Amino acid sequence: MTMLAALHHVTKTYGTGDAAIHVLRDCDLAIEPAETISIIGPSGSGKSTLLNLLGALDRPESGEVIVDGTNLATLDANALAHHRATKVGFIFQLHHLLPHCTVLENVLVPTLSQKGDRNALRSRAAELIEAVGLSHRLNHRPGELSGGERQRAAVARALINSPKLLLADEPTGSLDRTNAERLVELLVEINAREKAAVVMVTHAPGLAQKMGRVLELAGGKLREQAK
Ligand SMILES: Nc1ncnc2c1ncn2[C@@H]1O[C@H](COP(=O)(O)OP(=O)(O)O)[C@@H](O)[C@H]1O
Ligand SMILES: [Mg+2]
Repeated sequence: MTMLAALHHVTKTYGTGDAAIHVLRDCDLAIEPAETISIIGPSGSGKSTLLNLLGALDRPESGEVIVDGTNLATLDANALAHHRATKVGFIFQLHHLLPHCTVLENVLVPTLSQKGDRNALRSRAAELIEAVGLSHRLNHRPGELSGGERQRAAVARALINSPKLLLADEPTGSLDRTNAERLVELLVEINAREKAAVVMVTHAPGLAQKMGRVLELAGGKLREQAK
């Protein structure tokens, strides 16, 4: 099977000389289409750095990042912005919803820079909002939602442009245990429904196990964990 995304011999260092922090060292990763992966590892081990490289938010010093057949190093700033908007979806620990916009408007934000058929986009948004269980909150603002509901709205927003790769950086970090479990179960459902690969960073071993593969980041490299 052709890979959806890969890191080949990726190195990432912050700072220089004595102050250099070697976060990723000759790190490899291969992601198959529509698979689910969790990434675990101690705080500061480079999990966010790795996700940012996959999401084209950052560039490695050396090595290659390939997503959907494209080596990201070959893209200029415009092409990178287009890539981020259409090929990847992001979910973070904080929902980053716009407070004055409704759930529906928030989910449509990533489409604002596109031409596209507005009616079709609105139906797609409404479908996704239903898929994350928020149909009854379509016209509510983030301040009127619970923490779990806000994260679910952020999941719908991340999917609006049908990315093949959904990157979630500690998406349950601000949720209680019940809502955290529900959110991860939602990511698994969404993976099956949308056929988007999911890469989730988490500190919670129980949540990590819900993904198809568990990889531990340590010493700048990923290691597959027995499940
Ligand atoms: N922009 C940056 N400049 C300098 N150091 C950074 C920067 N971003 C992250 N780091 C350092 O790189 C290491 C890995 O960070 P990060 O990827 O955020 O780890 P994790 O997400 O696993 O907690 C940490 O030691 C962090 O302090
Ligand atoms: Mg992090």
